[in-house]
Amino acid sequence: MFQRIPLTIKMLVVTVAVGIGVSIILDYFQSKRLKNIFYAQLSENLDKHASEDRRRFDRYVDSYNKAARLIISQKRFLDYIGQKYFYTGKALQIKSLEEVPSWLPEPSVLRSLINVRYALLSDSEGNVREAYQNWPDAPPQSLLYPSALLKKLSHGQSLMTKIDNIPFLITAESVSDSQGRTRATLMLASPIDSEFLIASQESAFHEDVMLLLEGEDMKVVATTQPESIPIGSTFDMFKDRYIVEGKSFFDQGSSELLMQYISVIPKSHVEALSRDVLSRDRQQRVLITFLLIVSFALIMLWVTRNILLLTKNVMGFSQNVLGLQTKEIQKGDELQILQKQFQYLTEKIIESRKAIREKAEELSKSNEMLRLEIAGHKQTEAELKKSEQSYKELTEVLGTALEDVKKREQTLLKSRDAFFNMLEDINEAYKDLQELFLNLVSAMVNSLDAKSPWTKGHSDRVATYAVQIAKELGFEEEDINDIHLAGLLHDIGKIGTYDYLLDKPAKLTEEEFAIVKKHPAQGAEILKDIKQLKNMLPMIRHHHERIDGKGYPDGIKGEEISLSAKIMHVADTFDAIMADRPYRPSPGLEYAISELNRCSGTQFDENVVQAFLKILSRNER
Ligand SMILES: [Fe+2]
Ligand SMILES: [Fe+2]
Repeated sequence: MFQRIPLTIKMLVVTVAVGIGVSIILDYFQSKRLKNIFYAQLSENLDKHASEDRRRFDRYVDSYNKAARLIISQKRFLDYIGQKYFYTGKALQIKSLEEVPSWLPEPSVLRSLINVRYALLSDSEGNVREAYQNWPDAPPQSLLYPSALLKKLSHGQSLMTKIDNIPFLITAESVSDSQGRTRATLMLASPIDSEFLIASQESAFHEDVMLLLEGEDMKVVATTQPESIPIGSTFDMFKDRYIVEGKSFFDQGSSELLMQYISVIPKSHVEALSRDVLSRDRQQRVLITFLLIVSFALIMLWVTRNILLLTKNVMGFSQNVLGLQTKEIQKGDELQILQKQFQYLTEKIIESRKAIREKAEELSKSNEMLRLEIAGHKQTEAELKKSEQSYKELTEVLGTALEDVKKREQTLLKSRDAFFNMLEDINEAYKDLQELFLNLVSAMVNSLDAKSPWTKGHSDRVATYAVQIAKELGFEEEDINDIHLAGLLHDIGKIGTYDYLLDKPAKLTEEEFAIVKKHPAQGAEILKDIKQLKNMLPMIRHHHERIDGKGYPDGIKGEEISLSAKIMHVADTFDAIMADRPYRPSPGLEYAISELNRCSGTQFDENVVQAFLKILSRNER
């Protein structure tokens, strides 16, 4: 399956997969590294910011004293306190001012110096005579009637202290006469609250938030972002949402406050910034990865295209130059195809080389054979000429021989005719001889049968019945002739028997019958030396044997008795039954047939009886 994918697609998939995989792994480590770097740099920047914030704050605090010094040196201020009716005597009432008084600079100039909340003008005795408020709330009593300590500490510097439990920045500067006596004192004061903090940072814009925290529970006293961190809340409630940049106490000599000054930055802002940086970096990396994958894919395309071209060239070379049948190009891995084509080509070249070598060997053999054949051919040509001569001579000899053969043939034909004539003569002579022989035998047995009137013509009839049965059973003609002769001769053994036994009008005694029973063996004995009658001897000897073995002279049974002897037995017995006897007349054909049936299977052979019954029924019809 993998092999069938084209190399281009395979390489593209691998390139894209590896590219994506590597970029994911790199992205993980790169993001982690970038985050660390980002936080390290951020922390450095935050520290810088925090110290800058603090510096700005300190500068703002210092600017209060500088502003006070500047204001008292102004002509407007000096002119005001130089008036003859400038406050002297006991202080009874403080003049509360809402408009910028003439001892202060023009409002526009004053705003550019500081954002003062309260400005207090004291007389030479140190009693506050005029109070300007740039704020809805009236100045606290502790400012209107400052303690000696406050007056002393605030003189010539910016002092941060608590007035009525509210942190305040206070500064004071005095104008003295030529004798060094204080003529008037200017005190500037502002509560250090959120407004103050915001003003201290001027127009600097950044995401950090400044906080003034008081006490161990870090209660928020002032903040540059009161909407996010309300005044009076505890910073612990918000610290999870912010990163603390800088943290410091007012540890300078001009401060009596036990408050913490801190700069914080919202974590959400940092995270958004971090996400932004990482996302921009990731976009760049994705773009680079994409460009790398595309470049690699293009190179792959170029390489696979060249591999395909090479494959086609190899196939073309195989087909056109080497004349080899190349395999069909299958879609799939081009490298695999090329490798297969090369292998196939190599095999084919090896095969071709082998075939060429074999062909060369064959050619060399053929060449040798051809050379031998030419040599042989020349020899044959000479022999052919000789043979031609011999052939002519032979033809002449053959012509003579043919004539001779023809003559001999004619002679032979004549001889053959003569031979056939002779054969016919011999045949005639043989037939005559046979007839003579039969007639002689017939005459002899007839004379034997005629010795008793009861047996007259017996042998002739037995011979006739036997021949009929043999024909019915399909015997060959030669065998039938033998059966005929045996029928005539079957009782020849009776020649030596006393005539009275043959002619006895009563039944024979046992001894007499024993004598009569010898005739089959005697018959065979008489004829045994005549070569031509050899086949008839078993029929003569066994014509009184029964198939149940109760016959004589040998008492053989069944298949031991030959079929022709069985035929002889049936024919002989039938004629004996049918004959008239001195002690009884003939019992007739019907009885004889019933006897044949009764004794069939015990005395007679069943087939022989059946054949004879058929003959008898035919004769009857
Ligand atoms: Fe007999
Ligand atoms: Fe007989």
